[in-house]
Amino acid sequence: MCGIVAYVGPRSCTSLLYQGLRKLEYRGYDSAGLSVLVDGQIEVVRAVGNMDSLEQELKGNGHAEARLGLGHTRWATHGRPSTENAHPHSDCSGKISIVLNGIIENYAGLRKELARQGHQFASETDAEVVAHLIEKHYHGDLLEAVRLTYADIAGHFAFCAIHSSHPEMIAGARKECPLLIGVGDGEIFVASAIPAFLSETRDVVIVGDEELFVATPGDVQILDLEKKRLEREITRVNWDVDAAEKGGYETFMRKEIFEQPDALVDTIAGRLPGGGQVVLEEMLIPDEVLAGIDKVYIVACGTSYHAGMVGRYVLENWARVAVELDIASEFRYREPVLSPATLVVGISQSGETADTLAAMRQARRMDARVLAITNIMGSQATRDANGVIYTRAGLEIGVAATKTHLAQIAAIHLLALKLAQVKGALDVNEIEGIASELKAVPALLRQYLKNESAAHEIAKRYYQQPFFLYLGRGVGLPVCLEGALKLKEISYIPTEAYAAGEMKHGPIALLDKGSPVVVVATDGHVYEKVVSNIEEVRARDAAVIAVATEGNEGIRAYSDDVMYVPATSEMLSPLVSVVPLQLLAYHIAQLKGCNVDQPRNLAKTVTVE
Ligand code: AGP
Repeated sequence: MCGIVAYVGPRSCTSLLYQGLRKLEYRGYDSAGLSVLVDGQIEVVRAVGNMDSLEQELKGNGHAEARLGLGHTRWATHGRPSTENAHPHSDCSGKISIVLNGIIENYAGLRKELARQGHQFASETDAEVVAHLIEKHYHGDLLEAVRLTYADIAGHFAFCAIHSSHPEMIAGARKECPLLIGVGDGEIFVASAIPAFLSETRDVVIVGDEELFVATPGDVQILDLEKKRLEREITRVNWDVDAAEKGGYETFMRKEIFEQPDALVDTIAGRLPGGGQVVLEEMLIPDEVLAGIDKVYIVACGTSYHAGMVGRYVLENWARVAVELDIASEFRYREPVLSPATLVVGISQSGETADTLAAMRQARRMDARVLAITNIMGSQATRDANGVIYTRAGLEIGVAATKTHLAQIAAIHLLALKLAQVKGALDVNEIEGIASELKAVPALLRQYLKNESAAHEIAKRYYQQPFFLYLGRGVGLPVCLEGALKLKEISYIPTEAYAAGEMKHGPIALLDKGSPVVVVATDGHVYEKVVSNIEEVRARDAAVIAVATEGNEGIRAYSDDVMYVPATSEMLSPLVSVVPLQLLAYHIAQLKGCNVDQPRNLAKTVTVE
């Protein structure tokens, strides 16, 4: 799950590569590096840590004359974060340089064999074998050497290579991990994601799975594994460059929390046109097939899994369809019982999470219908699925997902309405009633976000606590799971999240005088049950921080602190009740001085198992 960039063209490229890497830093920030061709020699600059460290290394060393180069920002898998393990990696001669995203699963055997043949290794990484394999296969044709290297390696990866004897060429290959080409005016960019070159060009060519490419300043060729040239259209990307900037907020996460009303508006836009219709154009699964679906199986990881858990309640409630839910890394190694009447829904904001992709592929193999809910167009999940519901949250840079989570929940609401419509589980009036309530949520949230003082004040009172317990029931359960995940990932405070009714079966032993317990207690059919659980917490002298529906003054009698959220119907309530928990986590992390946009040990896109 690293970020790679490459450039060939007439411009001095060091700063272009550096700027590209800055945009990809969310993919990993254990180390970073560049290699550029200067006076016929490849010069490599690498640094441990994030891009600030590389910036220091590059000071006074701009390689202004370089017109060809590679860059990499790393999330360590094989080999600890160190300068030696930082990319780019070189062959023995130093004439070849490579950057790789992904994992070479058979690297150990390859390394042993290459070492036996006399190759000298300088790192502990799996990626370095690619440089030495290209060296082994190179006889004057870089593309052919890349092709033969591809044939030798197993795993999932995307890599780019340059050779000092080819001052105007980048060659590379892709298997499962993303690789995009930016086509400029007489120049070519290559990257793991579009933001890396969005400020330079909006014309994009996608390198497909199991394909090679070769780029020179005026041309890019996409080829199959036999080097047959493939036709590939250029796509024009309409993203706003500013969307990738912080736009006045102190952090990306904060900006993205405040962008949630827009993310919701965009995700719903045009999909509920009235008359009980639900229009999901990219879903591509015919209504008659959807009508015959007898089970929905949701697979996802992390925050996306929590969105999926909301789906369990909503789909059962509205569409009256059986729902199962599993963590993708578990599902992929089980023997799930699927049939052509099962709809497997893979939820992944990135569309590149290895475990979710594997689960979706397993479902395809078992003849289930597979639907992807993702935020990234053209991501692998979209290609592995029969159909897609795109969330339209825009680019999310903060490693902790916020606006994509809300958009995922809204996408699930749309899916549930669609299934309810085709199955006749809800009539036109019921669908329209829900649709108008859903359309009203962004305005409610916008209003709510104008005054976030409650979350901030509560954060000030509790941020030095060593442990937080989160409780919820019904649709409040995924909300409390997500709130607890947000707090632990950005503030490093240990948390537990439990179905409130389960507390008495164990977690209650954790409670002590003053222990903060966050309880999702919004209006709904289990509200009274939640209040009983709050009483159990209070009996242990723990401190209750309740998330409650505006107007519920009674909850104050049971709580030490209350964060009120706007009133919505129960099935829509996660769209509002998760927001104060994001804000609470955010303020606590800020008060503790944590880097909320780049929490330690995490990466935005988890392309490894
Ligand atoms: C979100 O805050 C987390 N960083 C993480 O749990 C994430 O949701 C998970 O890795 C799944 O990612 P995906 O949505 O891109 O598949």
